[in-house]
Amino acid sequence: MRIDVLTLFPKMFESPFAESIVARARAAGKLELAIHDLRGWATDRHRTVDDVPYGGGAGMVFSPEPLATAIRALRSRGHVVLLSAQGRLFDEAAARRLAALDHVVLVAGHYEGVDERIIETDVDEELSIGDYVLTGGEIPAMVVIDAVARLLPGVIDASSLREESHTVGLLEGPQYTRPPEFEGRKVPAVLLSGDHASIEKWRRAEAIRRTVERRPELIDAAELTPAERARLPRPAAKAAVRDADLVAAYRSGVGSYRIAARFGISPATVRARLRAAGVRLRSARGAQRGPTAAEVARMRATGLTVRELARHYGVSHVTILDRLKKAAK
Ligand SMILES: C[S@@+](CC[C@H](N)C(=O)[O-])C[C@H]1O[C@@H](n2cnc3c(N)ncnc32)[C@H](O)[C@@H]1O
Repeated sequence: MRIDVLTLFPKMFESPFAESIVARARAAGKLELAIHDLRGWATDRHRTVDDVPYGGGAGMVFSPEPLATAIRALRSRGHVVLLSAQGRLFDEAAARRLAALDHVVLVAGHYEGVDERIIETDVDEELSIGDYVLTGGEIPAMVVIDAVARLLPGVIDASSLREESHTVGLLEGPQYTRPPEFEGRKVPAVLLSGDHASIEKWRRAEAIRRTVERRPELIDAAELTPAERARLPRPAAKAAVRDADLVAAYRSGVGSYRIAARFGISPATVRARLRAAGVRLRSARGAQRGPTAAEVARMRATGLTVRELARHYGVSHVTILDRLKKAAK
């Protein structure tokens, strides 16, 4: 398989793929990886590839011309993927889909992103590695390359791929190695039994149990037999809120509104339980209800709106505005 990457920062790709499994896949000719500097397609003396956004706003946008020329020069019959926080979530199924192709071109955006017209005309799909915003598409492109490379035939032993998390829609169960006992904690006896059928059964049951516990939303689409589905353990009930945690939070200076938001119970319940636990409540006037001015200012600097901050802290927007005013003084 061949992967071409278009980026403003080609050096970022040097060390991650110079070692370990991807390096071996490259050396063995199973993966051909070529990293291209987008500035190589710029036409002016300063090698400019971006410009200010129409309509104003912060940051720069990749200009259509150098990007289109670069993609068209590289793509031949390849599939063009733009790494984007707005793309479909990149998951194991997407990795498998890309690994089945002969040629993929990965475009790593930067700054504010890419002129929309190029996405419409030259990009086959947009992929996101998660619901957060990174400074550039380089690390997402590396994530895609790594996940795809290990699926290429002969790169990793096929049997280890079969058991891995997400391959059949389940997380993998726990793994152990020697010694059989470490600091008093023993490896499950079945793994030492040499009984391969029992080990397989145990691993399968652990994978199902772990998926139900940690990622219950995956279980519906997982490949389970009807008998396994019928035996599915019930998801663990939401952990009860302990009095000790409420008391510790309150004694550390956090107000009852904020504790309520943190533990998902009402402020009245928090106060009632604190009183029942023998805590003398601070007078409402003296108490700082909600977050401190410094905390709100720090969160505000990440770009959240007043409304989002109010929801985050479980307080009113008036409280948020008040804290922001205090922080500005
Ligand atoms: C600062 S981001 C631009 C974010 C863009 N203005 C938006 O709101 O969607 C710069 C570049 O990083 C890459 N990027 C950021 N977050 C990403 C994610 N979660 N998955 C894939 N690429 C991402 C994209 O290539 C993007 O063009």
